[in-house]
Amino acid sequence: MFDIIGICALVLALWGLQKFYNRAVIKSVLRNLPGPSNPSFIVGNLKQLWNADAFPFHQEIADMGSAVKVHGFFGDEQLYLTDPRALHHVLVKDQEIFEVSANNLEISRLLWGNGLVASLGEQHRRQRKMLNPLFSPAHLRTLVPVFITIAEQLRDALTRHISGSDNEIDVLEWCSKAALEYIGIGGLGYSFETLKEGANNAYSNSAKNLLPAVFPIAPLSILLPYITAVISPDFGRKLVDVLPFPTLRNVKNIVDMIDETSRMIYEQRKQTILRGDGEEYDQVANGKDIMTTLLRANLASDEKDRLPDDQMFGQMNLLIFAAYDTTSSALARILHLLSDNQSVQDELRHEIKEMHIQLGDVTPSYDQLNSLPLLDSVIRETLRLYAPVPFVLRTACKDVVIPLRTPTIGIDGTIIHDLPIRKNQGIFVGITMANRNSAIWGPDAAEWKPHRWLKPLPHSVTDARIPGVYSNQLTFIGGSRACIGFKFSELEMKAVLYMLMHNFKFEPSKSEIIWKFGTVMAPSVKGSPEESTPRLPMKITVI
Ligand code: HEM
Ligand SMILES: *[C@@H]1O[C@H](CO)[C@@H](O)[C@H](O)[C@H]1NC(C)=O
Repeated sequence: MFDIIGICALVLALWGLQKFYNRAVIKSVLRNLPGPSNPSFIVGNLKQLWNADAFPFHQEIADMGSAVKVHGFFGDEQLYLTDPRALHHVLVKDQEIFEVSANNLEISRLLWGNGLVASLGEQHRRQRKMLNPLFSPAHLRTLVPVFITIAEQLRDALTRHISGSDNEIDVLEWCSKAALEYIGIGGLGYSFETLKEGANNAYSNSAKNLLPAVFPIAPLSILLPYITAVISPDFGRKLVDVLPFPTLRNVKNIVDMIDETSRMIYEQRKQTILRGDGEEYDQVANGKDIMTTLLRANLASDEKDRLPDDQMFGQMNLLIFAAYDTTSSALARILHLLSDNQSVQDELRHEIKEMHIQLGDVTPSYDQLNSLPLLDSVIRETLRLYAPVPFVLRTACKDVVIPLRTPTIGIDGTIIHDLPIRKNQGIFVGITMANRNSAIWGPDAAEWKPHRWLKPLPHSVTDARIPGVYSNQLTFIGGSRACIGFKFSELEMKAVLYMLMHNFKFEPSKSEIIWKFGTVMAPSVKGSPEESTPRLPMKITVI
């Protein structure tokens, strides 16, 4: 993490001075909140919060209360929120005050260009309006046959690969390949051909390594607005090539590779549509993929409403990333949990087999895939307890007061009911920790119990009014910046599990698996030389 501190020291020092000055002027309102001790004036708690083994630290923070103070660079005080009412204000009610933090926008823009995540206000609304219909149930319905076909390709690829002696394979690798194919075909109308025999997986391998490579240096992104203000992108890229910072160079190479591929796909799509020769693009997802629809709508709309190429292109890069790492992480987690609990796996297989028997060779419909109660519960429970994206960041862009549902006890013993927030206040939206709140979910909140979804939820859940778009949880957050693709993701997981549960049995491997904390959670083998490489070995047998 610190290999680039050298070059940034000066900028950092200036930034620190400015921050220090602000702090002296604005008396922090957070001072009275409980929180972990500050181990370092320079980096605060950032090292504890942003590392692959940070999960217990986040848990520790959440146990201190529903609104906790943590420290950033140079004594900067940030807020770690798990309180549902406060988060309702941050994500929904006062969303325009709590924007995605400027550093995040900057990272997003550097990595992916001008996509949805990198836009604010009116531009965001416009982009979102154009994309929304493509994620509606009506549109997803039309994708079901393609989704099932990809699941069949995954089944066939797995069957080919487990013919070896001990049947142990890296399940994450296959979940990643499948997820890339899903967003490729369902989202971009382009097949990465990850599931074909002898496929070239340079793209998926690069893509898989991007977020783990960026995560540990992400806090340094507070420098980005300063760096991009003084250094042009072209010069910056050249600089990264000659500077002795392998982490940065690695990120740049991955980004370049992804960028090149995306440009190629984008140009290809656009040309076919402009030429109007339907056949070529109809063969992939019958021209019903998100990007083709978006391109067509964009080309057909008035000049003034049209999204420029760079925005269209940004959407594409962003979609790949938002969809791919997250869903493969979720799928891998589900298979991991099912391998640890054979009784739930058997029960789920039974439920799914009944439908296979009933349908024979017929592809299940959207409604049929959504009519399997245990399948639905397994997905809900896994996403609740193990949110693939454990937290997101927001920054207040003006002063505002937000209420707490659960009052918290200040250091001086007073009870705090409301939080006065200052402009520029940084906020951690504690997704996973909010999902595990035992005051809401009961004493078994931290246990994986799919069956809790088969009975009516306790009043404590419904009363809490959790501001999430999905299933009383924050996994896809809520409000106008909620995950646009949660139904896409859910459908994808259902199609894959429908196919895999029917054909295979999943059992744990001999290796001990740990899940690394990050922008997106990722499994790896404990104690192995390549512990930092995401992997999930598992034993698979054909039924
Ligand atoms: C289990 C899988 C997924 C999880 C856990 C997940 C989670 C999230 C979260 C937490 C955000 C908010 C990020 C922030 O505002 O800081 C988000 C945004 C987003 N997600 Fe997902 N996501 C998943 C799958 C998908 C899929 C499959 C797609 C696309 C097909 C997608 C597309 C997006 C987009 C475009 C945004 C940005 C929305 C905006 O800023 O308006 N996601 N997702
Ligand atoms: C598997 O899950 C079921 C249902 O939640 C639970 O009753 C059982 O104890 C679990 N078994 C194991 C081995 O964890």
